[in-house]
Amino acid sequence: RLVSYMLGIETSCDDTGIAIVDTTGRVHANVLESQQKFHTRYGGIIPPRAQDLHRARIAAAYERCLEQAQLQPEQLAGIAVTTHPGLPLSLIVGLRFARHLARRHRKPMLPVHHMEAHALQARMEHPTEISYPYLCLLISGGHSQLAMVNGPGRLTLLGETLDDAPGEAFDKIARRLRLYVLPQYRLWNGGRAIEHAARDAKNPTAFEFPLPLAQQRNCNFSFAGIKNNSFRAIRKQEREERTPPDGIISNYRDFCAGLLNAVSRHLMHRTQRALEYCLERQLFGAAPPTLVISGGVANNDAIFENLKHLASAYNCRCYRPSKLYCSDNGVMIAWHGIEQLLQDPKQSLRLDIDKIDVA
Ligand code: KG4
Ligand code: ZN
Repeated sequence: RLVSYMLGIETSCDDTGIAIVDTTGRVHANVLESQQKFHTRYGGIIPPRAQDLHRARIAAAYERCLEQAQLQPEQLAGIAVTTHPGLPLSLIVGLRFARHLARRHRKPMLPVHHMEAHALQARMEHPTEISYPYLCLLISGGHSQLAMVNGPGRLTLLGETLDDAPGEAFDKIARRLRLYVLPQYRLWNGGRAIEHAARDAKNPTAFEFPLPLAQQRNCNFSFAGIKNNSFRAIRKQEREERTPPDGIISNYRDFCAGLLNAVSRHLMHRTQRALEYCLERQLFGAAPPTLVISGGVANNDAIFENLKHLASAYNCRCYRPSKLYCSDNGVMIAWHGIEQLLQDPKQSLRLDIDKIDVA
């Protein structure tokens, strides 16, 4: 069988990702430039600064990508690029670069929905195990959704967050907690730092949070309550301990364990509802019931193990992308391009470059 190569370009947020993947799911190159260290200092991503960094790095990242893959641009079947959702200033850098390549090398361009790319990524590594349709829990810094995945461009939303995303809550709480004063966490994202700190908790039940939307029988999420309760608990603890303004509460590990447990329970509660709904209505059809967890928060081992355990109680299999590909990267964009190509080769390669824009 003929193998095609797809270039993937991701610049929706603060990572410049460029990768080349082929139709068999083999990764030929994966270049990822994180801006984390430039933004953490300021307590969050500053869009114009993110745009400058993408601009400064994208061409060199592309060159390194070709070099790693040992391929010429002529050998590419197409150029897949994230067009939405994301920070407009960041998205536009990737899109313009993709347009430039597409014109210069006369290659088709394939627009990619960032969250969909997260949702399909696990199929690259588990092509036979994960077949459409499957249930996907998408949890990242910008989203929290449960969706049935029927193919590229064919997701049915079952529920989503009414306020914050879980990764966003982790990031904001980690900053409020000042986890970054500890050198080991200085360059980590909030979710990863909280997961790590929680492992060493002495009293993991010292901080408890009510279950959000406990009475609602749907698949929506809410993390604002957990976030506000966290801020309140931290302030109370700081007052009691007289924590200096640049210090951290002594039992931050217990706090992180309680927080992680609260987020985990909420995700399980909603996923359970979605599983029951899909099984009752036989939405999996002839395919074996399958749950895929994706997005940056899927990196979290505690959350993944809990969800896997829940799924197994429903005879449902559970997968996530390997850690290399859970967070934003170019591979998932290239893979989404491959999925588009496989689904409808003619249509996916015919799109007019000028009609593709950030949305
Ligand atoms: O998918 P992603 O890389 O970017 C978005 O599309 O948002 O997700 C980033 C988010 C961040 O909010 C980060 O705190 C969270 O994923 N994250 C984690 C972990 N690693 C990254 N959350 C919990 N546990 C982790 N190990
Ligand atoms: Zn993402």
